[in-house]
Amino acid sequence: MSTKTKINKSNTSTAKIFTCTVRTAAAKDAEAIYSLLLNYSDQELLLPRTIGEIYRAIPEFFVAEVDEQVIGCGALEVFTEELGEVRSLAVDPRFQGYQAGRALLDAIEDYAVQLGLRKMMALTYVDGFFHKYGYKTVEMTQLPEKVFRVCVKCPKFNRCDEIAVLKTLN
Ligand SMILES: CC(C)(COP(=O)(O)OP(=O)(O)OC[C@H]1O[C@@H](n2cnc3c(N)ncnc32)[C@H](O)[C@@H]1OP(=O)(O)O)[C@@H](O)C(=O)NCCC(=O)NCCS
Repeated sequence: MSTKTKINKSNTSTAKIFTCTVRTAAAKDAEAIYSLLLNYSDQELLLPRTIGEIYRAIPEFFVAEVDEQVIGCGALEVFTEELGEVRSLAVDPRFQGYQAGRALLDAIEDYAVQLGLRKMMALTYVDGFFHKYGYKTVEMTQLPEKVFRVCVKCPKFNRCDEIAVLKTLN
């Protein structure tokens, strides 16, 4: 899967316009994905993922490219026959605000619909971004599939400060 869009900063006439391609990730993208995520996991904005975990999850990932360089990534993890999660959504700081995050989220949601999923969730610090695209903040207790299968193993389980958001897909 691959879609090409021109991305630009909204409400600015001076910012650059880039051509951005969002496509399914290939194994060769793992190192670039790892570097992107490391930047944000070091800031505790995303959970850390090892390079091995990223290789294993490559079939779940999409990447955004400008001039054949990976500038963003995001993944779809399937939890149940109904529920998926947006994971590891990240855009290189130099390209933030150019709609690449939105293009990645669109690709992830389209794929979720293709797979027959009806609901998407995320655990995030950027709830404002997700609210823009129809996600609503919910209590963690509304996401038992995530809490009991994944969160219980997280070192931050008892001090989790991420916000749970949920959307019903059309
Ligand atoms: C969140 C993130 C992926 C957004 O990517 P981006 O490419 O900068 O976002 P976009 O340019 O596609 O933004 C689309 C819209 O969302 C808005 N938006 C972006 N980040 C936002 C935020 N933190 N809060 C509220 N709105 C936000 C933008 O203003 C834009 O709105 P507009 O179309 O009205 O101008 C990026 O900021 C990032 O990598 N953050 C660090 C990692 C992270 O926290 N990821 C989320 C993990 S679940």
